Amino acid sequence: NSQLKDLDPAKLKVNLAQRLQPLPALSTLKFGETHTDHMLVVSFDPKTGWSDPEIKPYAKVELDPMSSALQYATNCFEGMKAYLSPDSTPLLFRPDMNMSRLASSVHRLSLPPFSTSALLTLIKRLVVVEKQWMPPKSGYSLYIRPTVIGTKSTLGVAASDSALLYVICSPSGPYFPLSRGLGRPDGYIKPINLLAVSSHVRAWPGGTGGHKLGLNYSPGFLPMSHATEKGWDQILWLRGDMVMEVGAMNFFVCLKRDDGDIDFLTPPLDGTILPGVTRASIMDIARAHTSSLSFSSSTSNTTLDGLTSRLHVSENPLTLTTLIQWSREGRLIEAFGVGTAAVLCPIGVIGFEGEESELPSTEAKDSAFTEAGASYPDGNIERPSSLVDSKESK
Ligand code: COI
Repeated sequence: NSQLKDLDPAKLKVNLAQRLQPLPALSTLKFGETHTDHMLVVSFDPKTGWSDPEIKPYAKVELDPMSSALQYATNCFEGMKAYLSPDSTPLLFRPDMNMSRLASSVHRLSLPPFSTSALLTLIKRLVVVEKQWMPPKSGYSLYIRPTVIGTKSTLGVAASDSALLYVICSPSGPYFPLSRGLGRPDGYIKPINLLAVSSHVRAWPGGTGGHKLGLNYSPGFLPMSHATEKGWDQILWLRGDMVMEVGAMNFFVCLKRDDGDIDFLTPPLDGTILPGVTRASIMDIARAHTSSLSFSSSTSNTTLDGLTSRLHVSENPLTLTTLIQWSREGRLIEAFGVGTAAVLCPIGVIGFEGEESELPSTEAKDSAFTEAGASYPDGNIERPSSLVDSKESK
């Protein structure tokens, strides 16, 4: 209906919080446990369309107990990150990819559509308002969680013709604990140990696994609890013998080829795999280095000089049996999970049906994590009111 209003950033109202929370010490940050002071909220009414967007103090959302989101899990979301550049400019990482994935999740749930470029403009405004929450330390970022839920109040099983779109932010650091062993003052990304699960399946052909819907995640809580009770870090999702994803991350392996080159493999996007932004980015980087692999960097001491192999990137189905076979034959260089929240995490051990296979893995040393004890700057820092230009303020 062309009479319905679309999201309109020009109509944004900014209502700043009177009281701001103290900024947390970075060393205490646990993924997803801290929210910033403000949120962006817009709602869709079937008669009028999208409301005027508002940035307002973070607050609870009121829902009718009959609402579609509560009854039928009509919920989709994105995970994206903003980083502070060395000159303190907030930078979003490939947000266009998150926007198009959100549009496809919204469509899959038959929720009302909106202009994703308008949403991106609004997210940028929110990030500027919350700029002080962006940790000034490499390896840390502001995790942004756009969420769309169906708010129609009926127990009738049908599409929700009303919706709430909101965006919240959470400062984030390393997703998994870093190892800080003896003689190793720097942080290392510890390889995680996975329990492979085939009795519960994350996604199947024709299902919703290729979309970022809340209902794809909650069924993982039970197998994940079983795995963590037994001391495993995460689950490896299988479908039959096929390797799918690692917890909430996409899966990659690196293999030695007979000609000395390296195969870089990940399962294909056949509708059962989440089209991860980090997944796509890692493949883009690997492809860009295919012809001349030299990872030396002038700004850090991370060098892989002398590595003259070429990377061959491919998206192919992969079985656990083959993976373990490659590991035994010494062909496997490494397996790892990737995602927006965790970035990249090496895999140490895979357990399946009582057997454990140790994979070769490097503890990824990330110079990002080497500055011990960094924190937000304290003292009289500028807070949001001075960051918003006056025409945005009410
Ligand atoms: C992400 O990596 O952003 C995810 O969505 C994984 C999880 C935190 C839900």
